[in-house]
Amino acid sequence: MGLFRKKPLDSVSASEGEIHGGHTLGRHLSVRDLTFFGIAAIIGAGSFSSMGQACFSGGPGVVLLFVLCGIACGFTALCYAEFAARVPASGSAYTYAYVSFGELFAWIIGWALLMEYSIGNIYVAFSWSGYFTNLLEGLGLHLPEWLTTNYRSASKAFAEGTAGEGLTAWNSAPMVGGLRIIFDLPAVMINALITWLVYTGVKESRNASNAMVIVKLAIIALVVVVGAFYVDIANWTPFMPNGFGGVMAGVSAVFFAYIGFDAVSTLAEESKDPQRDLPRGMIWSLVICTIVYILLALVLTGMVSWSQLGVSDPLAEVFALRGVKWMLFIVSIAAVVAMTSVMLVFQLGQPRIWMSMSRDGLLPKKFASIHPKYKTPGFSTIVTGLVVGLPIFFTDESFILDFTSIGTLFAFVLVCGGVLVLPQRAKTAGRFHLPHINSRWTAPAMLLVVIAIVAYGVPSYFPGLLAIDVEHAAQQIPQLVFWPITVLVVVLAHLKNWSLIPVLGLLSCCYLLTGMAVSNWFWFAVWLVIGLACYFAYGYRHSKLASSRP
Ligand code: ALA
Repeated sequence: MGLFRKKPLDSVSASEGEIHGGHTLGRHLSVRDLTFFGIAAIIGAGSFSSMGQACFSGGPGVVLLFVLCGIACGFTALCYAEFAARVPASGSAYTYAYVSFGELFAWIIGWALLMEYSIGNIYVAFSWSGYFTNLLEGLGLHLPEWLTTNYRSASKAFAEGTAGEGLTAWNSAPMVGGLRIIFDLPAVMINALITWLVYTGVKESRNASNAMVIVKLAIIALVVVVGAFYVDIANWTPFMPNGFGGVMAGVSAVFFAYIGFDAVSTLAEESKDPQRDLPRGMIWSLVICTIVYILLALVLTGMVSWSQLGVSDPLAEVFALRGVKWMLFIVSIAAVVAMTSVMLVFQLGQPRIWMSMSRDGLLPKKFASIHPKYKTPGFSTIVTGLVVGLPIFFTDESFILDFTSIGTLFAFVLVCGGVLVLPQRAKTAGRFHLPHINSRWTAPAMLLVVIAIVAYGVPSYFPGLLAIDVEHAAQQIPQLVFWPITVLVVVLAHLKNWSLIPVLGLLSCCYLLTGMAVSNWFWFAVWLVIGLACYFAYGYRHSKLASSRP
């Protein structure tokens, strides 16, 4: 059936280098570069901005969520690594889905990844702007509020009469033809700058990214060491002031902090030895970042009460509250550097996914064109810049965060599922190989242990789940869907002898999805419907696999 036509695995490697205009991407990246790219993509707005909200809703118990997300991402990274070792092409999860599930799923993943790479960058650009403006203030430079606030926040502040930057922006904005000129200039500028950097070449971007990673890791180490002196362990109790529900409410924010390790896989065609180096780069970067996050969350929640952390710049806030003024400027520099590197890697990743989709005929040919001088996917890079840059004028950050996390988790679920349906392969020296642990009995045994722990530890959980009440339906529905899916996956794992690691990856990502509010699911569904309309209007008919059919 056309919708599920699969790309043959061997054709993917063969298509490397088959790029429009006879130009190929330059192979410059080593394991160290890829690990740095991973860290560059992972540590950013999640740790410098959204972590505050997660600590505020979950209290010190948010550390558990960091561990949980680290585990889910760890299993997923191993699945990505397995694919990367088999399919050394730029499209990341998109290409992986094409060989395992077929074209329709591949398109859906490609579409969901747009949320991760481009929409996610909008949130990062807004957060970047916040810290950059702080830095300028520290240097005695003040930008008018109408140039540092987004239009939506300002009009919302006006409508609700909320005093603050938004309202000041609304009241002081110049008018042109009856329209208030309000936009986030630093966010627009950083997006333009990153687009230019990525457009002009991966080698230059790599050097910039490596330097930024060193700076951000050094400053984060300083934050942890200095912060450790101010930790008061009394702040760690109560550990979960709002219960486990409060911890799970931070799932979008915490998961957002982990997004990015998978961006490494979009650099397959620029890696010196992708089948060996990509898996290592992904796993190393994830391990390092998980350790960093757990330390940061412990320090943050130890320095001040969790109830003081509901701010958009928590790392600066804790030092301000503890009177360590000299750290404020350093934290702002680290935040600006960290978020710049996140934007850089995501803006490198998105065009490479579109390039792969275009080479497969699912997007117009232009998306695969390579710049003759810079050897980068020039057209796709500019379109990415526009996709990130234009919404900066009319969206705000709150909606974007959930939207990005749900799309990315969805893509991760499909990647883990994809590994389950891949045929087994023989070990090849020098290539990553996902260890096969048979889940025939281990998966059911683990499920029973989890059910027993939950039933014993939280006796009200299962009865509460089954007694639907309208007030909590929004939280209950995702959980009610999760358990039958889990049982189904475990039964299939038993019957089909599935490999345990992807099974655990699949289920842990599904569990994190239960933390998403029902309204997010609604918007995600709208997004998917638009994506499907695009596929049927263009991709289905222009697919290379369609034209190669007799
Ligand atoms: N993980 C990335 C960040 O936190 C998206 O900015």
